[in-house]
This record gives sequence, C-alpha cells and structure tokens, in this order.
Amino acid sequence: MIKVLFVCLGNICRSPMAEAVLRKLLTNEGLEDKVIVDSAGIGHWHIGKVPHAGTRNILDTNQIAYDGMTARQVENSDWDRFDYIIAMDQQNMADLNGIREKNDVEIKLFMDFVNEESAKDVPDPYFTGNFDYVYELIYTGCKNLLEEIKQTKLKEEL
Ligand code: 4NP
Repeated sequence: MIKVLFVCLGNICRSPMAEAVLRKLLTNEGLEDKVIVDSAGIGHWHIGKVPHAGTRNILDTNQIAYDGMTARQVENSDWDRFDYIIAMDQQNMADLNGIREKNDVEIKLFMDFVNEESAKDVPDPYFTGNFDYVYELIYTGCKNLLEEIKQTKLKEEL
C-alpha cells in the first residue's frame, strides 16, 4: 500500500479537496486498493468539521465524493505512516518541518506536481475565496502525482 497525506492549515479547504480528488482519480483507474489517501491540518481549530462549503461546492459540481471526511490535526504517528507527506504551501511545509519527528520521509510541496514555474503555494481559498482556481491546481497536481506513483512505487505491479 502506498500512503499519501496532504497537509494544509485548517484541513477544511485545500487538503480535503486534494484528498477527495486523488481518491476519485484512483477509483477511476481501479487503483483505490493500492493507494491510501488522507489529509490533516497544522491547526486545531476545525477538528471534526466537514470540508468548507466552497470545497464541498466545487467537489459536488465535479461529482467527487467527500462522504465521511472530517478535519483532523497532524499527529505524531503520521510521520511513520506515510510514504508521501505533501504540504499545500511553503508555510505549511515550514510548520511541518518545525514539528517533525526524526524520520526519513521527505515532505514535498504540492506545487512541485503542478508545472507552474513561478508559483510555490496553492493559494488559500479560505482567504481568497477562489475555490475554482484552487480546484484547477489541485486536479492537475493530483493527476501528475498519480502518474509519478504509477511510474515509481507501483511500477512493478502495473
Ligand atoms: P485550509 O484553509 O488550510 O486550506 O483548510 C484554511 C481554513 C481555515 C483557516 C485557515 C485556512 N483558519 O484560519 O481557520
């Protein structure tokens, strides 16, 4: 099993959107049993809450399920459980590096999977309100991440 964790600040806008989109792409390709997807937040403010209305709205529009998803905070056990820990922006990455335990997992930036040279952050729609643009970035990034997983970690099996 390959395990992917997306991390943002509140775990109600960007990282749950990425979780739902990647899971949908995996299901489309019949790979849902090979890759586990989860998301978490740096902050504790929204623990237990469903995704933000803007995220639910764009997922509904694109017929992507998010049933049962609720916010949680990054926890110590995450460091040993995931093959990929992917931060939605540079501040999330800095925060993760500040709390990380000693381990080998490499934290990546989500925008590394989106071919936009200049941008390093998925802008936070909690503040910008632009869920449509964030969805575009997340869809592209998840497609590219899945390709990478298929060509590296799942190479022997496919
Ligand atoms: P997210 O957006 O990190 O994409 O889930 C945010 C959600 C909530 C807050 C900040 C960002 N907040 O400050 O409560």
